[in-house]
Formats: sequence, structure tokens, C-alpha cells
Amino acid sequence: TQSGLGTEIVNTINKLQDVFTSIGTTSQASIDLPQICVLGSQSSGKSSVLENIVGRDFLPRGTGIVTRRPLVLQLINRPAGSVGQPNGVDKTHDKAANPDEWGEFLHLPGEKFYDFNKIRDEIVRDTEAKTGKNAGISPLPINLRIFSPNVLTLTLVDLPGLTKVPVGDQPRDIEKQIRDMLLKYISKPACIILAVTAANTDLANSDGLKMAREVDPEGTRTIGVLTKVDLMDKGTDVVDILAGRIIPLRLGYVPVVNRGQRDIETNKAISTALEHEREFFENHPSYKGKAQFCGTPFLARKLNMILMHHIRATLPDIKARISANLQKFNAELISLGGPTGDGNSGNIVLSVITEFTSEFRTTIDGNTNDLSLNE
Ligand code: GDP
Ligand code: NA
Ligand code: MG
Repeated sequence: TQSGLGTEIVNTINKLQDVFTSIGTTSQASIDLPQICVLGSQSSGKSSVLENIVGRDFLPRGTGIVTRRPLVLQLINRPAGSVGQPNGVDKTHDKAANPDEWGEFLHLPGEKFYDFNKIRDEIVRDTEAKTGKNAGISPLPINLRIFSPNVLTLTLVDLPGLTKVPVGDQPRDIEKQIRDMLLKYISKPACIILAVTAANTDLANSDGLKMAREVDPEGTRTIGVLTKVDLMDKGTDVVDILAGRIIPLRLGYVPVVNRGQRDIETNKAISTALEHEREFFENHPSYKGKAQFCGTPFLARKLNMILMHHIRATLPDIKARISANLQKFNAELISLGGPTGDGNSGNIVLSVITEFTSEFRTTIDGNTNDLSLNE
């Protein structure tokens, strides 16, 4: 389809997961991919960024306080055409254009949503059911799973924005309540933080960046995302920020252009919006020389690269665990007097993984520049 995380990494991880499944070690040896969380002020564009990364329209977005509970979004890769195992009632909402892609909520077991607009409606409905209509906030997460052949099995978390002044039914200590809620997610060492700041606001006042620095002082898991670059005053740009001259970030910044409020109201398609984003950076005098380092596709590539690094770092440990399991398994077979065969199946698995490891290394090393592009 889409802007989403690249097919290359989806295929690679699927192959690895197949290997694990075939030797029955999924529980001990699966790859735990990091969670990706968005962090930033209210209406800085967090939900818009996430939606663009996933490449599907399904998150409530808009001016004002829209995201009022954490949304834990689990993307699950599932080959096209595989027969679903109905989980309970299997109440199908809409047999849709694409029978291979659907969403399921934890709070509605067995109900499959093929229409992504209805997923959005349900997020809004359940948010209101638990927090009321008047700007209330709750740390109670909404758990949504999206099954698709086109996604990487990965968890993304959409979070309410940092805010200071209570409105509506919000408690007086709203600032602290939201901070505590966000800290729970972003403190995890396996959380990649997308620190979102609107480019038409002052970076030095970015609440998201400040908070990211508290939990990730070395900046090893924080990516800066600059939204609303299209809304900056004429003659201003984010070039100094990208070059690391304002607040340097180890993993750098990616400028993006999401859909504006009017685009949301007119249901502008993601594909059209991505095309518009590409044209914006390619034609803008400040960015056209480095347009390949701008926009949502580059952000997705950057995330891919971080995930690749993570996998490479995780593989030796997985290999060790598989190897230990195989030894134990062989010893048990021998003690049972069973045939040990030629003892080769374990070695085959290990050599497949070793092969992957070096394949990753080539891919990663060939792309490392992406991680330090801010000349
Ligand atoms: P969140 O509150 O941080 O999740 O922000 P949303 O994703 O809900 O977006 C808030 C508002 O900003 C919406 O009206 C979006 O259309 C608008 N918005 C977000 N990103 C951009 C952008 O890059 N450009 C423009 N023009 N509007 C944006
Ligand atoms: Na908003
Ligand atoms: Mg939001």
C-alpha cells in the first residue's frame, strides 16, 4: 500500500518468526520489538504522525483535546488469505474491500472491524463511555489490534498530549496526571519515543522534548518529529533544527507535513496527503536539496533502521536460547532411547539465524548514514 514500515523488514522478521515457529520456540525466542510511543503537546500532531506511519485512516484527530486515553495499537502481520480463528462471537461489522485487513478491540472480543472509519467511531465511543464528553482524561488504555498482511508485528501507542491548564471536567492537577500517565509508557527502555513538536512553535519550549530528555538523557531512543512545517511563517524554516544547531538530538529530527484540519474535514486520503507532503519538501527552497531526509517515508525508514539495530542486538541472545533448548531436547531424546537422527535440524536452524545476522549487518551498515544524517 503505503508509507508504512517497509516491506523489507516485514519480510525479514516474518521469515525469522517462521523459523522460530517451525522449531516450536516462539515463547522463549521470539523477537520482542520495541514499542513506539508519541510524546508532545496537545494538538502538536501526534495522532496524525502515527496514522501516517501505519498508512491507514483510523485515529481520531483534530484541534483540541481529541486523544483522551492511551491507545495501544498492536499491528499483527498475518498472511493474506489465511483463515481466521473466530474468537468468540465473530461478529463481522463489514465485509470490506479487503478481507485480509481488520481491527479488533480487546473490549469487544470477536468483533471484527473491516471498515476503518468504524474503528475510529468505536475509539471515540469508548473514549466517551469511560471519560465523558467534557475533555475528561483516563489512563485506562484502549487496546486495538490490526491484522494485515502489510504490517510489521509491532506495537504503537497514541497518547494524550501534555497540557497545563485544566478545561471541562479535567481535574485541577491535570498536568501531573497526564505526566504520570505518559511516564508509564516512555520510561520503558524498550520504548522508542517520537517526540513531536509543531514547527510553528518554539522548540526550546517543547514539552515533549523536555520530557523525553528526562527518561532518555542520552537520546538513544528519541526521534524528534517536526510537524506543521507547512504552517511556518514565510521565510522561516527548520534547517537550523535539522542541522542540530538548536537542540541537538542524537537520532536527529524529521520534518513532516500531515493533513490539516480542513483535510480532515474533507476526508483527504492518506495517499493524496503523502503526495502533497513529497511535493512540499521537493519544491520548498529550504528543503529541496535534502528532500529525501524529509517527510513521513523517511521517518518510517528511520524507524526501520532502529528496529533492525534492535533485532541485530537481540539475535545473539535468541541464538543462545535456541541452542540451549536444542541441547536439552536432544539430551531428552537420548535418555528416552529415541533416535537422535543425524542431529542436524538444530544446526540448520542456527545457521539460518547466523545467515540472517550477517544479512542484517550488511543492510544496517549500508544504511547507517540515515541515523546521523544531520550534517
Ligand atoms: P494531537 O493532538 O497531537 O494528536 O494532534 P492531531 O493529530 O489530532 O492534530 C491536531 C490538529 O493539527 C489537527 O487539526 C490536524 O489536522 C493538524 N495538524 C497536524 N499535523 C499537521 C501538519 O503537519 N500540518 C497542518 N497544516 N496541520 C496539521
Ligand atoms: Na488534538
Ligand atoms: Mg491525538
